[in-house]
Amino acid sequence: MTDQTYDLIIIGGGPGGYVAAIRASQLGFKTVVVEERATLGGVCLNEGCIPSKALLDSSEQFALARDKFATHGILIDPPRLDLSRMLARKDDVVKKNTDGIAFLFKKNKVDLVTGTGRLGGKSGELQQVAVATSAGERLLSGKRVLLATGSTAVELPFLPFDGERVVSAREALSFARVPQHLVVIGAGYIGLELGSVWRRLGAQVTVVETLARPLPSMDGQAADALVRALKKQGMKFLMETKATGGRREGEGMVLTVDGPAGSSELACDRVLVAVGRKPLLEGLGLEEAGVRLDDCARIAVDADYRTSAENIYAIGDLVAGPMLAHKAMEEGTVVAERLAGQASVVEYEYLPGVCYTWPEAASVGRTEEQLKEAGVEYGAGRFSFLANGRARCMDETDGFVKVLADKSSGRILGIHIVGPRASDLIAEAVTAMTYGGTAEDMAMTFHAHPTLSEALKEAALDVMDRAIHS
Ligand code: NAI
Repeated sequence: MTDQTYDLIIIGGGPGGYVAAIRASQLGFKTVVVEERATLGGVCLNEGCIPSKALLDSSEQFALARDKFATHGILIDPPRLDLSRMLARKDDVVKKNTDGIAFLFKKNKVDLVTGTGRLGGKSGELQQVAVATSAGERLLSGKRVLLATGSTAVELPFLPFDGERVVSAREALSFARVPQHLVVIGAGYIGLELGSVWRRLGAQVTVVETLARPLPSMDGQAADALVRALKKQGMKFLMETKATGGRREGEGMVLTVDGPAGSSELACDRVLVAVGRKPLLEGLGLEEAGVRLDDCARIAVDADYRTSAENIYAIGDLVAGPMLAHKAMEEGTVVAERLAGQASVVEYEYLPGVCYTWPEAASVGRTEEQLKEAGVEYGAGRFSFLANGRARCMDETDGFVKVLADKSSGRILGIHIVGPRASDLIAEAVTAMTYGGTAEDMAMTFHAHPTLSEALKEAALDVMDRAIHS
């Protein structure tokens, strides 16, 4: 059966695909999304960003009640954990978000076909997408196809996922009981965030990381401060240590790890493998359609997100750049607007990154290491949350803000924050940098008192040696 002709067929209803669909529809394109999950939102909403943040928020509340309430003069019996209720709340948060996207599709008249899509060749000038649905194969025809199928967790060949003892983030969001000893392989975003969740809930957590520092793209000082804070919370780090083997033993696992002191074994009951993600390309029919990959096995696209095949586009985790939901969303908006002839661009230079541990770590722009390597003359300003009134009120004084600015022009080149609500504070940095702001611009801007955001103003002042409170 051939349906109507669409202006745009999108394969994948995650943050890239669903945003592209809504924006394309707003711009007058007749749009359909092909999605194999029963719900929209992809990994981010269903088994990534949203459920992990729901658990991070819940587990943080638990840790506060247990470890910090007394400091505030609130005396309670030690709090008890009802894990199944915490997990049910997380599922409810996910449902509200995925239902929200379904509502937006209806509101914006985006069609949805539930099934697995692949490029189905051309019929005249039209692209076809074959969709395997529960009711058999369906053929969609459209002027253009946008690929937005996202990514999946990388597996270690010597430690395949079994969904129970050796898991990816998906299962680590739903452990039925708190692990006794969780080993996290990879000190990236997923490892540190989910390691934090289970540490706060009482698990012993050991993070095994090949490199000397976690979050390799993060400013070195910020990464060190974050590790110090996480160690204070009881997380154990085995840095410059590589996981090289693993076997099931009794009820648990025994891992082989190779570190500075040689090879050793590590016993645990759960292993979270968080060593990166890879684009989901299999089964899309790319080769037959003439869609070429780049040197990193991502889909090669031009500035319009056009692939090497005519009228086939790709965005998000499928193409170059960090695998971040907000990057995919921005590309979704921009690809639709460029199809409509608008001159929109994604400002990749000002793409923020956030690690939602506590304290949080957030950054935008270049790190001090990158500036040094590039030989850029810069000035650095720093302000500690220890000297911030609001942070003291909150009893959240770990961390700092660092502003890096060009020596001659003062233009901000990078901002790095480790501290309470760094994820929200970084927005000001992104705005300032996107508008070409200088450290002085930021320093001269009103910041309400007392707020955490004053740390940004003070760090900007410190670039010019004018900080008031340090
Ligand atoms: P990642 O790429 O952030 O970190 C993986 C880490 O594993 C690296 O530091 C690497 O050196 C280490 N590693 C690799 N093999 C190893 C081995 N055999 N033994 C020990 N260490 C090893 O990957 P992650 O955390 O899995 O995240 C995947 C993607 O998801 C990332 O691109 C990230 O941007 C995105 N993400 C972003 C989040 C956020 O923005 N807050 C949250 C979750 C995921």
